[in-house]
Amino acid sequence: MPEDHQKPRTRRAFFGDVLRLGAGAVVTGALLPQLARAMKDEKVVATIKLAERKELAAIGGFILLKDTPGGDILIVRTGKDSYEALNPICPHKECTVKVKSAELIQCPCHKSAYAIDGTYKSGPAKKSLSKFPFTIKDGTLSVMSEG
Ligand code: FES
Repeated sequence: MPEDHQKPRTRRAFFGDVLRLGAGAVVTGALLPQLARAMKDEKVVATIKLAERKELAAIGGFILLKDTPGGDILIVRTGKDSYEALNPICPHKECTVKVKSAELIQCPCHKSAYAIDGTYKSGPAKKSLSKFPFTIKDGTLSVMSEG
């Protein structure tokens, strides 16, 4: 029977071990390579080249990416150099929200309203749209699976 340290380790198992070390634990040199590997495992579910997407040219512009491995993703331009990658599923009863203007996202079912960055404004949902983590590198926006 193989010893425990020879088994492949999942990211969950690794982070479980880190948490078990407690608040006073110090990340030693031995843990750093595992931490780097675990972070690299974060799965990219969609990429877009920003320069090729005219829909995102203006603030308030948006693209709805359908059926990615992470589900539907609403990419919105929130500022001159800022974007958000939102889960377009309304937290109230799971209708798909719509971008109504450069300042407003609204759910068609019961009219919950959100700012363009997904922040809750009004209506029965009572919470903001969830966000996907993303990076922008060399003009490519890469969305990772929800954390
Ligand atoms: S499902 Fe969106 S407000 Fe009810």
